Amino acid sequence: MARVNIELKARDPDPSATAACCLALGASDQGVLAQSDTYYASRRGRLKLRVEEGALGGELIAYGRPDAREASESRYVVAPVAAPDELAEALDAALGTVVVVSKRRRLFLWEGVRIHLDEIEDLGTFVEFEAVLPEAGDLDTARSKVDRLRAELGISDEALVSVGYADLLMDAPQALLRAADEAMRNAYAPYSEFKVGAAVRAASGAIYAGANVENVAYPQGQCAEASALGALVTASETAITAVAVVAERLEICPPCGGCRQRLSEFGDASTPVYLGPTATTLGELLPGAFDRGALA
Ligand code: THU
Repeated sequence: MARVNIELKARDPDPSATAACCLALGASDQGVLAQSDTYYASRRGRLKLRVEEGALGGELIAYGRPDAREASESRYVVAPVAAPDELAEALDAALGTVVVVSKRRRLFLWEGVRIHLDEIEDLGTFVEFEAVLPEAGDLDTARSKVDRLRAELGISDEALVSVGYADLLMDAPQALLRAADEAMRNAYAPYSEFKVGAAVRAASGAIYAGANVENVAYPQGQCAEASALGALVTASETAITAVAVVAERLEICPPCGGCRQRLSEFGDASTPVYLGPTATTLGELLPGAFDRGALA
């Protein structure tokens, strides 16, 4: 049966001060959970498989939540899972994995409200309130409890976060850079010995990666970006929202001219391009690109 809760999420620069404040309010400390949430491409709402360290099974959670900074309602369905590894394999094969959110969560309970002090890998520290109905009262009571907690913890408007951790991670470069790096390790570059990896984020959220592939007849080689775009198109996607390129022997590997043109075909001028520790855009890499307008 679908459940409803009221949620609020904010960045938290000082989790120990927040923990002290929770205890002062009389919240009970439930300890720390290590959780991993794997998100799959889905047609409606979000679908994630949650696995907790030390637990035998897992939970498959389907939910929809409006992207709102203010406390908002979330509807969700939780299905217990007895064989999470096998289900993960099946979901990955059928739908595709979008992103994995790994977190350490310190859980407090206060008047039916779950207070999460979350440390999210690659993202930082957050505080989250989940007023679960009916434990936290009716809708209005739950809302006023969340408002009270927000005031007690002094959470400013600027600290509020409107989207989920999965969305924040997809916008962050780490996952793309990691995928590019993994692909780079498989590069076939015996002639140049210059291994390159590229990864593109598709509009669906999925990541496609590729490596450079050389040939003894040297001009036949293929750049890593071309391999990644080949994987994108093979999966029947044609729009990219971000790119990452890494090379084994160069901290910042600028895409070659041809690949700037190739990437521009599927992104736009504002599409971010992560080159090792730096970021640029497709527009900066290829100003005045030859685009479809030229053929019109
Ligand atoms: N290379 C890429 O994979 N992407 C680029 O954008 C620049 C160059 C590869 C091609 C070749 O296999 C090796 O790097 C040396 O040029």
